[in-house]
Amino acid sequence: MVVIGCSKGTHIAKNVARKLKKQYSELKVKSFPDGELYVRFMSNVKGKVVVLVQSFYDNINDCVMEVIFAAQTAKELGAKKVVLVAPYFAYFRQDKRFKPGESISIEVMGKLFSRYFDKIFVIDPHLHRQANLSGLFSSNTKKLTANPCIADYIKKNIKNPLIVGPDWESYKWAQKVADEIGCEHVILQKKRISGRKVIVKLNKKININNKNIVFVDDMISTGNTIMESVKNIKRLGAKKFNCIAVHGVFVEHALEKLRKAKVKVVTTNTIPNRVSKIDVSGLVAEGLRK
Ligand code: R5P
Repeated sequence: MVVIGCSKGTHIAKNVARKLKKQYSELKVKSFPDGELYVRFMSNVKGKVVVLVQSFYDNINDCVMEVIFAAQTAKELGAKKVVLVAPYFAYFRQDKRFKPGESISIEVMGKLFSRYFDKIFVIDPHLHRQANLSGLFSSNTKKLTANPCIADYIKKNIKNPLIVGPDWESYKWAQKVADEIGCEHVILQKKRISGRKVIVKLNKKININNKNIVFVDDMISTGNTIMESVKNIKRLGAKKFNCIAVHGVFVEHALEKLRKAKVKVVTTNTIPNRVSKIDVSGLVAEGLRK
């Protein structure tokens, strides 16, 4: 096996190779002046299981093209198998034709990637209307979850937590993390109006006395879901908040906005950023070992 760090995956790939005691190599990636991509393997992949580690963030479409080019090239060069580890896999939220004529991105991605990869690992995919990855990809898939890493972080760093999930979809993280810690949780109700606007409501009585509020969700993008959730919990008297998410997408100054609202944010490093304190490389290594 050779573990390949793609342009948005080196921070995890290096640790994974070290933990598995396998060869590590970086994919050389360049852009031509007109924006076209160039990729090159820097080690021999013939006869090997090639594990490409790539998250999809910043320039998402380039990240996609890069791994498709790499996967095809690995096969042409005689790789035994080509595996993708996508700590953060994009395009999962457009999982329905909400308006006539729209593309269902998640399905297109599923079909495209199935042509190139023998196996695909994704950490906490945003699957809501789709039950699991196997409904999307015809290649082998494995869903990994950072919930144990998040629970472990909370146990070590936050006393007396009350886990709050901002919408029903978040139960897969909020409830599961609370169960692992053995603490209480509450799930709020959210209505999404647009990509930027959400309305969040707390529809039951909760006691927050002596509790440290910890919002847990799969991802933070604009931060508006958490900002709206904060408003609800603030009415109960809470002044400070924690928020732990798997994927810190953070667009439009989300982190700054949350900091001003007294929300201390921590994420995993599926997307590296200045608050990505929870490392998922152990989780990936474990997944590949099985
Ligand atoms: C929604 O289903 C997700 O779990 C997140 O709650 C959502 O994507 C967060 O987006 P934003 O930070 O833009 O509100």
